[in-house]
Amino acid sequence: MSVKTKIPYIEQNQQRFLDELFELLRIPSVSADKKFRDDVKKAAEFIKAKLVEAGVDKAEICRTAGHPIVYGEKIIDPALPTVLVYGHYDVQPADPYELWETPPFEPTIRNEKIYARGSADDKGQMYMHIKAFETMMQTNSLTCNVKFMIEGEEEVGSNNLGIFTEANKEKLKADMIMISDTGIISNEHPSITVGLRGLTYVEVEVTGPNRDLHSGMYGGAVENPINVLCEMIHKMKDENGHITIPGFYDKVVELSNADREAMAKQPFSLEKYKKDLDIADVFGEKGFSTIERTGIRPTFDVNGIWGGYIGEGAKTVLPSKAYAKISMRLVPNQNSDEITKMFTDYFLSVAPKTVKVKVTPHHGGEPAMVSTKSTAYQAAALAVEEAWGKAPIPTREGGSIPIVALFQKVLGLDSLLMGFGLDEDAIHSPNESYGIFNYIKGIETITLFYKHFATLSKAK
Ligand code: BES
Ligand code: MN
Ligand code: MN
Repeated sequence: MSVKTKIPYIEQNQQRFLDELFELLRIPSVSADKKFRDDVKKAAEFIKAKLVEAGVDKAEICRTAGHPIVYGEKIIDPALPTVLVYGHYDVQPADPYELWETPPFEPTIRNEKIYARGSADDKGQMYMHIKAFETMMQTNSLTCNVKFMIEGEEEVGSNNLGIFTEANKEKLKADMIMISDTGIISNEHPSITVGLRGLTYVEVEVTGPNRDLHSGMYGGAVENPINVLCEMIHKMKDENGHITIPGFYDKVVELSNADREAMAKQPFSLEKYKKDLDIADVFGEKGFSTIERTGIRPTFDVNGIWGGYIGEGAKTVLPSKAYAKISMRLVPNQNSDEITKMFTDYFLSVAPKTVKVKVTPHHGGEPAMVSTKSTAYQAAALAVEEAWGKAPIPTREGGSIPIVALFQKVLGLDSLLMGFGLDEDAIHSPNESYGIFNYIKGIETITLFYKHFATLSKAK
């Protein structure tokens, strides 16, 4: 399969661009699991080598308290605009392995898609930037200075990237940040992401009696922490899907009717959505559409719940402990720390005195919005139109990239969220994939972006 592009160099080098990505995808750089520490390092070294091959003046592996950050730059003329590219080379764990049709770290092409953990999130999308840079170097058409900052801890909260950014403001000085770690509506309807949700993530532990008990001897007379945990979770939302934590919605920015009408015009098929997920109906906050429920409204979700006996057969036990991992997706202007506190206060307040409750916060992040009025967005819109033959639709996505809000705060820079993933890519799930078409079109669009960004910046 050969994807047609406006740039001959990209078309001629397609196979090698794929081969190199495959090499990266074979490295299991799972940031969450210590077992893969050396592989994470290997992925960082691979990226550094590829940046050097592509033509950066300087490339380094920056050590952090966790996984390394790869930094590279090509400064052609300080008077020209500078683009800071951010991406991540770490991936989510591939479990459960048995649900993969082909192994997660043995990239395979089926129906013109690359199947592998990280193919879309974010190795494939991040690597498009290195290949776009190579294209511009090889065709003598680089019009901007470029800096690359590729991290290995995005999937575990980017804590060290925050520290690195604070400590390297001068080094990271740029006119804009470009990130491909989001999606488009479809290949027929290209879009650019203008909003991301924030995140609050907590783990809760509910303790009943001091040891597991015989559920016949004690059952009915002693509180069961799993039963209690379920009831407590149930109290966090009402029957209309509205979250009941006091103060939770206080800072939520409500959209104007005009903005909601614009959102409603976005191409979306509820039938296709339900069919894809094999569900008879959707569920969400009453009064909002599916696009709104993921784009502009906050959530409360249990991500995992456990306790008691879950082995084979039956064991009659009244457990001592119950646990759950809970996430809340946030929208402007909610604040992650404030929401963590509101949740904790409320959760503790609904606990009966028959149990002890502990709440442990995990990493979180703030929601972010980026302007469509910026030079970067305008240049991106031109690039998308040129490569895809259609003007992009600005969209708000439900996922989180906490570093976007942090870049706004620390570097004073907006990020351009020009990702090319599709819902069907199944990121974080078994059988993650990324379309070859999207990979190649992405490289083309990014290359065209630099041209338009330089021209529009000069005109300003
Ligand atoms: N690339 C995703 C975020 C994303 C996915 C944005 C889909 C838009 C659409 C990113 O790698 C991710 O998975 N982020 C995490 C948060 C992080 C703090 C672990 C998320 O959204 O769960
Ligand atoms: Mn990602
Ligand atoms: Mn991810």
